[in-house]
Amino acid sequence: MVSLGEGDTPLLDVTDVLGLSGISVHVKCEHLNPTGSFKDRVAAVAVSLVRERSLRGIVGTSSGNGGAAVAAYGARAGVRVVLLALATTPPEKLVQIRAAGAEVYLVDGLGHDPQTTLALASEVRDVAARQGYLAFLTGGRYAPEIMAGARTIAYELAAQASPTHVYAPVGGGGLYASLWRGYRDLGGGVPRLVAVQPSGCPTVRDALAGGPGVLTSPSTTGISGLQVATLFDDDVPAAVAGSGGHLTEVTDAEVAAAHARMVHAGIFVEPAGATALAGLLADASSGRLPAGSRAVLIATGAGWKDAGALHALTEPGPPPRWTAGLAELLT
Ligand SMILES: Cc1ncc(COP(=O)(O)O)c(C=O)c1O
Repeated sequence: MVSLGEGDTPLLDVTDVLGLSGISVHVKCEHLNPTGSFKDRVAAVAVSLVRERSLRGIVGTSSGNGGAAVAAYGARAGVRVVLLALATTPPEKLVQIRAAGAEVYLVDGLGHDPQTTLALASEVRDVAARQGYLAFLTGGRYAPEIMAGARTIAYELAAQASPTHVYAPVGGGGLYASLWRGYRDLGGGVPRLVAVQPSGCPTVRDALAGGPGVLTSPSTTGISGLQVATLFDDDVPAAVAGSGGHLTEVTDAEVAAAHARMVHAGIFVEPAGATALAGLLADASSGRLPAGSRAVLIATGAGWKDAGALHALTEPGPPPRWTAGLAELLT
């Protein structure tokens, strides 16, 4: 097993910060994983399998965090990593990938455009299998073995708390479906799993209506990690139904407000990492999350992954020049 210390992430009580009457809220701090996202759990399994099977390397698609994770774990193990990334990947994620020594190429339309995304995922899966590489496609449809890594979030949660609701952001749906599979592995009760997705990328809405979970036009959300125009995991509808959960859609503006709230409370996440909170706040105000609930939010990615989103929370330009006396400033 190749490890960089992933997992065993803290569960933080933020009930007092939110002040929702009768609802307790904890944050599962997946942004504190070694490369700053929950994808480290998946990358650890992927790179370990490459070693075990003496494969030639890893090839995958990424919106940035999966790529950064597999780049680091590949570097640790001396495994070649080739990535095809969204053209809109934040520069912070790209530099993280490249500094670790992975090869990365930007692909127009990947992520946002459903047909480009589906075609490239199939090509990666097929060419990887033919040429002795492991396909890093983070959804159960394409890579069920490596997604087992994400089930460990549910294993840990079951030991840390007994939530009534777990809120998770959905991009390709691999994380959300892994929570379901993880809780099922344990054989006990499953909390209601709430899929939170930007309304500019409604693949879950389509899947719950019996569709293929594929958009008919490009996704329009600006939230990195959640722009995937097609589901990558076929268990999403089963996870909604089987857990008694539901879908909550949120606007990018609601995510931005939740992002500000978390960062201002010292929880340094990127926008995708605050999307679960946006869903919880929407459910609390609509009455869908009743008093007496115990909710967990999956905070998936770290704040430094997306400097653009942080700039939106600060005054423009550099900090002011120092002029005043310190004693006056601190009065
Ligand atoms: C920070 C972050 N949150 C959530 C997700 C969504 O995960 P999934 O694609 O498994 O639904 C991603 C995926 O890239 C991500 O990077």
